[in-house]
Amino acid sequence: MHIPVLLKETIEILEPKENENFVDATFGEGGHSLEILKYTEPNGKILALEWDPELYKLGVEKIKKLKMEKRIKLVNKNFKNLKRIVKEEGFSQIKGVVFDLGISSWHYEKSGRGFSFKYDEPLDMRINPKIKITAFEIVNYYSYKDLVEIFRNYGEEKEAERVAEEIVRRRKVKKIESSQELAKIVLQAKRFKKKKIHPATQVFMALRTFINGELENLKKGIKSAYDVLDQGGKIVVISFQGLEDKVIKEVFKLLKEKGAEIITKNVIRPDKEEIFKNPKARSAKLRALKKP
Ligand SMILES: C[S@@+](CC[C@H](N)C(=O)[O-])C[C@H]1O[C@@H](n2cnc3c(N)ncnc32)[C@H](O)[C@@H]1O
Repeated sequence: MHIPVLLKETIEILEPKENENFVDATFGEGGHSLEILKYTEPNGKILALEWDPELYKLGVEKIKKLKMEKRIKLVNKNFKNLKRIVKEEGFSQIKGVVFDLGISSWHYEKSGRGFSFKYDEPLDMRINPKIKITAFEIVNYYSYKDLVEIFRNYGEEKEAERVAEEIVRRRKVKKIESSQELAKIVLQAKRFKKKKIHPATQVFMALRTFINGELENLKKGIKSAYDVLDQGGKIVVISFQGLEDKVIKEVFKLLKEKGAEIITKNVIRPDKEEIFKNPKARSAKLRALKKP
């Protein structure tokens, strides 16, 4: 089960009220959507997006089981096209949009796509199977130079060269097939290992971010969200890595020039109690803005 992150803070900012409409750009297992719906009874609606087709199917079943079909419409689409999707769905009077970035606990624990080095799974890492490249193809066929760039630009990996070198050396002997094989290679290649996180964390993050175009989606998604918001509407973005936060700050700055009010002068982070209950929340950051 995915534990929704910074849920209380999201609600405090969005201030959902009776019969208001919201967009959940990243439905996942529905934590944020279901909480918002409690405040928007009886007729407030949510348009929710989930790009992963398997998680989307599970979401549709969940909504049916909870008899919430009249109040949540879940679509299997990418939030980068939010403006078009909102139009296609005829959704309007949007008071807020939530982005809870990254992937769900389900991806790590159940998808079988090699997102985690906790399990030995094929190197896939696609959120949606329509994406053309997999982690296997990148790791086994991309040039040394491209690997270095991906690890550095999408994962801020300081030892990108050493890791890429080791990958290229090892794949000449045998193709790198699984998440744990890759994690071991990274572990052997790196000289400096942080105590708190596994040494392969940044390389896995880089591959996932690159494959799924996560930074590009984010840029387009926030801009689209701003366009569809009602006056006085808000955008909440919860991110988990520095590169995402950088993109959010850049787009917020652009929107501020258009008149948006930045609500979070200082970034909001989970309190000690939340981190204690859910250690995965420790790197979360929340930023929010309001459309005038
Ligand atoms: C951190 S989870 C959201 C968790 C959710 N708030 C909850 O409480 O269950 C992020 C979700 O967004 C989905 N996702 C990632 N990129 C997306 C995109 N570009 N468009 C739509 N959904 C996306 C992922 O598949 C994942 O399920």
